[in-house]
Amino acid sequence: MVVLGIETSCDETGVGIVDIGERRVLANVVASQHSVHATYGGVVPELASREHLRALAPVAAEAFARSGLAPRDVDAVAVTRGPGLAGCLHMGLSAAKALALALGRPLIGVNHLEGHLAAPFLETPDLEYPHLGLLVSGGHTALVDVRGPFDRRRLGATLDDAAGEAFDKVAKLLELGFPGGPALDALAESGANAGGPALPAARPKGGGPGFSYSGLKTAVRLHLERERAAGREPDRAGVAAAFRRAAIAPLVERAVGEAVALGYRTITAGGGVACNRLLRTSLERAARAAGLRAVLCSPQLCADNGAMIAYAGGLRLGRGEASPPDLGVDPSLDERS
Ligand code: KG4
Ligand code: ZN
Repeated sequence: MVVLGIETSCDETGVGIVDIGERRVLANVVASQHSVHATYGGVVPELASREHLRALAPVAAEAFARSGLAPRDVDAVAVTRGPGLAGCLHMGLSAAKALALALGRPLIGVNHLEGHLAAPFLETPDLEYPHLGLLVSGGHTALVDVRGPFDRRRLGATLDDAAGEAFDKVAKLLELGFPGGPALDALAESGANAGGPALPAARPKGGGPGFSYSGLKTAVRLHLERERAAGREPDRAGVAAAFRRAAIAPLVERAVGEAVALGYRTITAGGGVACNRLLRTSLERAARAAGLRAVLCSPQLCADNGAMIAYAGGLRLGRGEASPPDLGVDPSLDERS
């Protein structure tokens, strides 16, 4: 079965084409809108919707060209129905409905986070359930007990900002542009990794199973204000490195701790922040030390893309699910929905 997946939940327009039985990505084209939003320092929802409308047809055409398939070769159309920006989700859903109707194929709405959790299967043929999933994106940060493709339990989540959001906000404080996560990661690499200010790790104040980024973010802001007030130019690379350590360490620690407690052998990581170099190296190292395996997607599959939506949709179609033609978007879904 060949499924076409459409992703438009935020600021990337993605169309992927996946052979579900073979778990093979035939095309995965993503058009980023970063340059459109950079001027504003964040995603402007109205502009994002318009960009999706502009990009969807050419991105789909490119996906067909790369896959060597024609529209009639597609057996079903999957689309992100949430979570995300409502206007953006509507763009993808309208395109998916039109395509499904024109081709006479089933439509399947997909939870974006189920897509992130499904993505590692596209590159790791021997990945099995159950495993522990670390979901780290611009909108979500959660540890998930992934018992099966449709059976998940939340083990911990952020109490305030998502990890990616915190990266982007701190990058803004360091004047690194938008989206700042990748730039902050690069600056931290160049910085003295052992140096920088003392910053609180991204853990909730009173303990507990989740994460918290607001105290860490404030600590960075106060440090920069103090340095500037004292007439000193802050050591930006040192601050980036210290922030990155404080942001990543609790994620790795808790992921390994939970996997060990559950007796699981594998940890997967997905979402844009799973591109982070420190997260990747430290999760791999900590997992190995605990006798576990870390499965990290390639950057194209970590970040938002259509192939993960196609695959997650294909799994649901495989058990006989299909969405009604009047399917609506649901911006407030979470990883348990
Ligand atoms: O999963 P994603 O593409 O979109 C959402 O569903 O949110 O994640 C985007 C987030 C952004 O906040 C971006 O700054 C962050 O992932 N990100 C990174 C890195 N690459 C992307 N954060 C830290 N280090 C990176 N290398
Ligand atoms: Zn995402």
